[in-house]
Amino acid sequence: MHYGADYNPEQWPREVWPDDVRLMQEAGVTLVSLGIFSWSRIQPAEGVFDWEWLDEIIDLLHAGGIQVDLATATASPPPWAAAAYPEMLPQDADGSTFWPGSRQAYAPSSPIYRRLAAELVTALAERYAQHPAVVLWHVNNEYGCHLHYDFSDAARDAFRAWLERKYATIDRLNHAWGTDFWSQRYTGFDQIQPPRKAPYSINPTSVLDFKRFTSDTLLELFVMERDIIRAAGAAQPITTNFMGAFPPADYWKWAAEVDVISDDNYPDPNDPESFRGAAFARELMRGLKPGVPWLLTEQSTNALNWRPTNPPKAPGQMAALSAQAIGRGADAIMFFQWRQSRRGSEKFHSAMVPQAGLETRTWREVVELGGQLAQLPSLPDVSSGARVALVFDWENWWAIGGRDHPIGLDYLGLAHRWHAALHRQHLAIDIVNTTAELSGYALVVVPQQYLLTDEGAANLSAYVQAGGNLFVSAFSDVVDEDDAFREGGFLVGLRDVLGVAIEDFGALVPPEALTSADSAGEISTHAVPEGPGQSEAPLDGPAGRIVGQYLAEELLVQDAEVLGRFTDGRTAGRAAFTRKRSGAGTGYYLATIPDDDGMWEVLRWLTAEAGIRPEIEGLPEHVEIARRGSILTVINHSAEPFSVTVIGTDLLSGSTEPVRELGAFGWAFVDTQATGQKGI
Ligand code: GAL
Repeated sequence: MHYGADYNPEQWPREVWPDDVRLMQEAGVTLVSLGIFSWSRIQPAEGVFDWEWLDEIIDLLHAGGIQVDLATATASPPPWAAAAYPEMLPQDADGSTFWPGSRQAYAPSSPIYRRLAAELVTALAERYAQHPAVVLWHVNNEYGCHLHYDFSDAARDAFRAWLERKYATIDRLNHAWGTDFWSQRYTGFDQIQPPRKAPYSINPTSVLDFKRFTSDTLLELFVMERDIIRAAGAAQPITTNFMGAFPPADYWKWAAEVDVISDDNYPDPNDPESFRGAAFARELMRGLKPGVPWLLTEQSTNALNWRPTNPPKAPGQMAALSAQAIGRGADAIMFFQWRQSRRGSEKFHSAMVPQAGLETRTWREVVELGGQLAQLPSLPDVSSGARVALVFDWENWWAIGGRDHPIGLDYLGLAHRWHAALHRQHLAIDIVNTTAELSGYALVVVPQQYLLTDEGAANLSAYVQAGGNLFVSAFSDVVDEDDAFREGGFLVGLRDVLGVAIEDFGALVPPEALTSADSAGEISTHAVPEGPGQSEAPLDGPAGRIVGQYLAEELLVQDAEVLGRFTDGRTAGRAAFTRKRSGAGTGYYLATIPDDDGMWEVLRWLTAEAGIRPEIEGLPEHVEIARRGSILTVINHSAEPFSVTVIGTDLLSGSTEPVRELGAFGWAFVDTQATGQKGI
């Protein structure tokens, strides 16, 4: 288990460095990410390198037994670069330039930026590839973090080249983009612009392709640096830090290119429920490279600086969030940053060594956690035992987030809510994409999969035929990978396994207007008699009232059973929830998006139908469990003490006493191997 932080020694006089190493030893630090923002110190002018300070600190760390995750420093070009080559600066959709003076002021497509970055990385990798302190390479930093999209001329040129590679002929592009609409037909790739400011709605497929291009372009930068590092003879693993579900980078695609997944985690301490979103992100990271541990490369020890208000973490919360990551496969717990800065934008951001000194709760918690992590055995098996999978898909995120739809939907927010409905039930959850291997899951949940590729549709359908339970909810399978409707209406790709089609999407007034007397908003699938004279017994669907939001789709039921009907509003009486047995499995469709309790209710019913149970029943909602091989992690994400019974051996205390007392933000790793308590 690695423990450490970003280390920025160039912000401190050299006299501090030996003290840093001594304190790192005291805290149990084993690994630091070095040089992430050091470009201007390493290369004070083009062609001029200053290695002396970096040599010294790497040697000092090595002598102190601290390993180095060496950064390539390309995330923040030095001022001399933009002064000499202003054309390397990025621009927004209006053509305004992002100037230097902050960080990340470079156009990812800029050939000049790429040349300068390549020169730096070549020199750095040749110098340190064989250094025994260096155990990991940290390429750039949080690609795209501040600058999601670049519309500069460099981006324009690269976008055209990317499109030409994708479509080969302009006619193919014209077909995919539907350019006969509004006289947009191109006669050459050189006429194409990125989706810059335009009078009205921009061609949606062009926007989708621009998002694909942006993700690919950032990934190209990573691959360029990675290949340079390898060519210099470096044998260490190479990574770059991800940011959970981060919009511009399709990490499903990126995962194949990095040796190890790294992730940063900054849940809002203001929000008592933010640990669920953090669980979502950690489950996503574990899923990117199934079976392989990943690294938590950044979190904060205490307060942040970049939200409107930045309260401290509660006592113990930092360790609880660390345990959450470890329980979901992390093999490193690291922070931004080692020593709190005295100057600059992030001086209010907490660190392992606080500005307030060592007589502080932060330092005590840092030292305590370091000591605990040092006791942990290696935990190679990261399998979660999950029998339910939730689909999360970047291409769909990009497409569904476009404009001109029946209703605006926040896909990430909805994915979090669907996940939370499972998480609140203490189920182990894997996050997958539509083309994943699904045979191990008893239930696959597909929320708002507006864009569904042919390949994805075939995979989900095959899953059902082979015996799986597939649950799909509203505004799914609407368009193909070109963001175009398919022949045959809506829900075409999954028609065979769902047995329903859609007549109309039935957009509702926004949820906040639900109280209006004539609102179409409140929907129930509960206990609706089929017609006069029929039984009033509840239908064979989820019990309890389910309030639908956003959409009340008008379904055309073909060969599915109706499990629930809308009771209110425009669609009253029409099918809302259906089931079709298909092959050896079952396809379920819900024609609305429930509120939080409705999501809980529907998924509780579906998991029970699929025979999925939590490993420990009856836990309160703020207590979470996660499995990592034979280790069960139990975390109390609240200040209320709680005790839980788990048979096994506590990895830290060695206790086999089954009743585990979890104080405020308390947690335990319990090895249940000997008890055979496994399988959820
Ligand atoms: C991250 C970034 C770090 C630091 C941190 C502050 O996004 O990688 O350099 O800025 O946020 O929370």
